[in-house]
Amino acid sequence: MRILLDETELKEGVLRLASEIDDFYGNKRHLTVIAVMTGSLVLFADLIRRLSMPQRVGVVQASSYRGGTKSGDLHVDSKMMIDVSGRDVLLVDDIFDTGKTLDRLQQMMLDSGATTVKSAVLLHKNREHSVAMRPDFVAFEIPDEFVVGYGLDYLDMYRNLPYLAVLEPDEIEATALESQP
Ligand code: IMP
Ligand code: MG
Repeated sequence: MRILLDETELKEGVLRLASEIDDFYGNKRHLTVIAVMTGSLVLFADLIRRLSMPQRVGVVQASSYRGGTKSGDLHVDSKMMIDVSGRDVLLVDDIFDTGKTLDRLQQMMLDSGATTVKSAVLLHKNREHSVAMRPDFVAFEIPDEFVVGYGLDYLDMYRNLPYLAVLEPDEIEATALESQP
């Protein structure tokens, strides 16, 4: 694996992201922060502890990578969502790739009565996106490569890596074998 961002760089990126969000909202306004599971798991835990405003936290699950590295149909599970009506909502996701996930979730939050909806991501892939919306807060721009670690997975593996790495094609094949029960 080729390391793209090491632990120190990730930590600095999260601090930068938190201070941009703090500057935007101020530290008095209540924020409802929603983790887009499962990829934002690690980022979310680190980020919310760096934000200064009072927060309510919730989770929503969205998955579009169904066993591959190309995005497929988006499936959203909102069973664990908290009430967002009349709230300022911040969606937190690991990466903005095609943009379909955040675009759909932003609309879902607005349909559920959220007053405002913004989004924060660790990574923004340098590629053409299929939607008009863009994330409001971005820690890093990265090339259009498949990355794992710091919450991001391939076949649900590698989320625990403390760094972000590019998964090369031969490693993609090897992982498919290794992830078997
Ligand atoms: P989008 O809907 O295409 O923007 O995809 C967003 C979701 O796809 C993210 O929340 C990730 O879970 C997943 N994803 C996109 N690119 C990568 C990647 O390079 N590695 C791992 N997961 C990715
Ligand atoms: Mg995801």
